[in-house]
Amino acid sequence: MASKAKIKAVTGMNDMLPGDSAIWTFFEDTVRDVATSYGYRPMRTPVLEPTALFTHGIGEATDVVEKEMYSFEDSLNGEKLSLRPENTAGIVRAAIEHNLLYDAPRRVWYFGPMFRHERPQRGRYRQFYQFGCEALGFAGPDVDAELILMTSRLWKELGIREVKLELNTLGEPAERAAHREALIKYFEAHLDALNETARHRLYLNPLRILDTKDPDMQQLVEAAPRLIDYLGEGSRAFLASLERQLERAGVDYVINPRLVRGLDYYSHTVFEWTTDRLGSQATICGGGRYDGLMEILGGKPAPCVGFAMGAERVLELMKEFGVHPTEPDCTVYVVHCGEGTLDPAVEVAEELRDLGVATIVHGGEASMKSQMKKADASGALFALIVGESEAAAGQVSIKPLRELPEKTAFSGQKTVPAEEAARMIFDEILVIDTKDL
Ligand code: HAM
Repeated sequence: MASKAKIKAVTGMNDMLPGDSAIWTFFEDTVRDVATSYGYRPMRTPVLEPTALFTHGIGEATDVVEKEMYSFEDSLNGEKLSLRPENTAGIVRAAIEHNLLYDAPRRVWYFGPMFRHERPQRGRYRQFYQFGCEALGFAGPDVDAELILMTSRLWKELGIREVKLELNTLGEPAERAAHREALIKYFEAHLDALNETARHRLYLNPLRILDTKDPDMQQLVEAAPRLIDYLGEGSRAFLASLERQLERAGVDYVINPRLVRGLDYYSHTVFEWTTDRLGSQATICGGGRYDGLMEILGGKPAPCVGFAMGAERVLELMKEFGVHPTEPDCTVYVVHCGEGTLDPAVEVAEELRDLGVATIVHGGEASMKSQMKKADASGALFALIVGESEAAAGQVSIKPLRELPEKTAFSGQKTVPAEEAARMIFDEILVIDTKDL
């Protein structure tokens, strides 16, 4: 028979394998607990949305919409769809569709896959996971500060250090429009010095020219008109108030007047958390205020602010700082060998699960020795052994697999009546602090 070609994953899209599950679980548990502790509630939206949501919401002239979206026409009904490249637009769409802000503002969080057709490299993938929070209907800047405080707390809880907070303001739309005019005039006067991307952006999105990494354009960009000089009293006061709150909370930051972010919906606050430890993919979290997005997407105007972090980048950084959570496969591993041993083994395992104790029953047949090896490798605290003689006598043996603290009753193997075994193990586990092991 001809050998079949192996089918591989799509380039830039990763499998999460069981060996990595402990660190993912730790991340997911931590972000959920921290978001909950600030009163944020979970929200889930589809990974597939109408393409127009992103072209209108994120902006036609952004890299994300222009070059990175997985867009296609549904061959069954002709709808134009895109895999979501981010989730702020989807959350706002859902908030409008379900009239979520009818009686009060909302704090929500999400965790899920996003899709961008970028050139894959360490920390940059075509499918990646974001944890994000959106505060819908809050005028700020108190909630802007709250979100930044939450991210700062998260780094601590995840074991991450040495991250830098960069902050900027993009002011009001009218202020940005005046600055934009000035930028266009300035760059028109220096057309020869613009690279191809900058020329392309000149009338579409001149602010993004300031983002350039091209060394030949640095001088030109440095001397360009600065948005800060076009800001009115209100915008300055907004930023000053946010700065005061961050200082009061002891959160260090630097103002980066060139931070513009890659999505068009921002106004006032924008921020990014960066690290030196991950090479060129240095931004682990980005966010800001998007007061105009509700209206752009057809809803009643409502001020909003939020952030999203790339889980893969955050996990890489956790590993850089030596955070390697481990997780045993189970607490009890049930070994059964011989005639009539499977039924009692399954019975005790079900009783253990009734008590909330994670239990694996050895699958298939194997010698006692080989099953005990598997029990050890599982990371379980106890092996529960059902041999033929034990089964016949209605008994099971309990064997601790690691050295347990002295206060526990199981210093060695004990044979006990089968119907008492689950409760005895449960009582033991209650007195064992797994941190002592
Ligand atoms: P963003 O800056 O486009 O913002 O993405 C947020 C984070 O997602 C980035 O800082 C990065 O950590 C991660 N990320 C982005 N692209 C990739 C990729 N290709 N591979 C791995 N990680 C990636 C947003 O998405 C906004 N929705 C954030 C926001 C929420 N603003 C207000 N609310």
